Amino acid sequence: MVDFNPKIISKEELSSISAGVNEEDLLLFEEHCLNVHYESNVFIEAKEPGSPWVVVKNLKSGEFSEMLDCTSQNWVLALGFANPDINYAVSEQMKRLTHVKSSGTSPARIKFVNKLAELAPGRLKDGRVHVNNSGGGAAIEAAIKLSLIASKEGEQILTFQGAYHGNSLAMITASHPIHSVTRFRPFGLDVFPRVPQPYCYRCLWNYKEGLYGHKDPQCSMECFELVNKYLTGLTSRRLAAVLLEPYQGPGGHIPFPPEYLEKLKEICDDEKIFRIYDECQTGVWRTGKYFTLTERYEKELNIDVSPDMMCFTKAIGGGFPLGAMIASKKIRKRFSPSEDHTTFCNTPISLTAGLASIKVIEKAKYGENCEERGKQITKRLKELQENYEVIGDIRGPGLFIGIEMVKDQTSREPHSELMNEMLAEGMRQNILFGPSMPYMTTTGKILMHNLIKIKPPIVISKEDAEYICDKFEDVLKASLNKIK
Ligand SMILES: Cc1ncc(COP(=O)(O)O)c(C=O)c1O
Repeated sequence: MVDFNPKIISKEELSSISAGVNEEDLLLFEEHCLNVHYESNVFIEAKEPGSPWVVVKNLKSGEFSEMLDCTSQNWVLALGFANPDINYAVSEQMKRLTHVKSSGTSPARIKFVNKLAELAPGRLKDGRVHVNNSGGGAAIEAAIKLSLIASKEGEQILTFQGAYHGNSLAMITASHPIHSVTRFRPFGLDVFPRVPQPYCYRCLWNYKEGLYGHKDPQCSMECFELVNKYLTGLTSRRLAAVLLEPYQGPGGHIPFPPEYLEKLKEICDDEKIFRIYDECQTGVWRTGKYFTLTERYEKELNIDVSPDMMCFTKAIGGGFPLGAMIASKKIRKRFSPSEDHTTFCNTPISLTAGLASIKVIEKAKYGENCEERGKQITKRLKELQENYEVIGDIRGPGLFIGIEMVKDQTSREPHSELMNEMLAEGMRQNILFGPSMPYMTTTGKILMHNLIKIKPPIVISKEDAEYICDKFEDVLKASLNKIK
């Protein structure tokens, strides 16, 4: 195989083509940048290849610092920044081939599709895989298309409060609050009826013991009975599918109780409504030693709540843009060329990165590491909770940790100001915490924005995990002093 030997531009020039910006570049950038850019840090490089630490430059002060990233950059970098194994596999792939048209195929696509079919849980095992080069929204749209094709007369997709499924024109509407704050008319409002999700810490039926991601032992799941009415005929048109994150990530780390998922499966199977799980955040060992949350329920609770279709993004591409959807092979329909393709949907680079990342996680047992480090952090947080009234609820598992900040543990009143201050203070103390998305009404009023996320790369060491807990307390103390 040939090595990279540039022909037109020197190796030196090419190796710094996207590195090292100066003040002038930054000023011009501010003028020209149209899409999101609101943080004052420029991410420069991994502290070391594969590290959860990153070197950043502060735009205002011009100073460099090293930060431990508990956001994995939109929860993507499960194996840290610039992972050497992934990068090696990708650079070898790049020597062979960098692009294949949508209808073509490549060894990377064949291997990736087969691997996902092998890893998928329950009724999805040996299923049919769709890949895209964009991410979660595109994977979910593919699932919705397939449910509309395969459903007899279904036209609508039932969605839940607090959900987030992406930012395309269709996914904005499928997601809970976003269309209330867009300056354009949402598409497809008639397609996505929305119902309340089970939210055990803030139960609409006033059960009080729904803590740490578990439902109140006394609860009779009235919330499901409400949704059941929609499943069995209350929507304005027939449902093709129900779309849900089995553990809502962006909306505030809110799990659907496994018993709820069991009931949902039973009714949906009876009513011939497909279930689409969005495991974009919870998949790829983010929640611990299992590939998906659904697999955890299968192995630990002995229940099969696997859906008809499941969607992935984030870590599935090993840090490269990739989305995937797997459908049960019982759904016999496949897409026609006109129903689904994009120019770059069949990208061997991302597929190779995805394959390498899965192999590394399996071989190094990073899923187990995620489980252990998650337990370590959650245990410390629960100890802190005894001393700090403002720590409301702590929800895992694995390194999928969300902490609800409240005014006090009795009222559970959301403490959005504290959450915001903690994010800013974290940056000052060289740790990046993540926020939940704001919980809004359809008129754009923010009801809650109070959850801090700790979701570092799953490769973090025991020492990094201790550092995260120490910093969490330091940051909390400093923030409380500031806002009091
Ligand atoms: C749960 C969930 N679903 C879907 C998406 C959309 O993925 P993408 O931004 O890749 O379209 C996201 C992204 O944050 C997500 O967190």
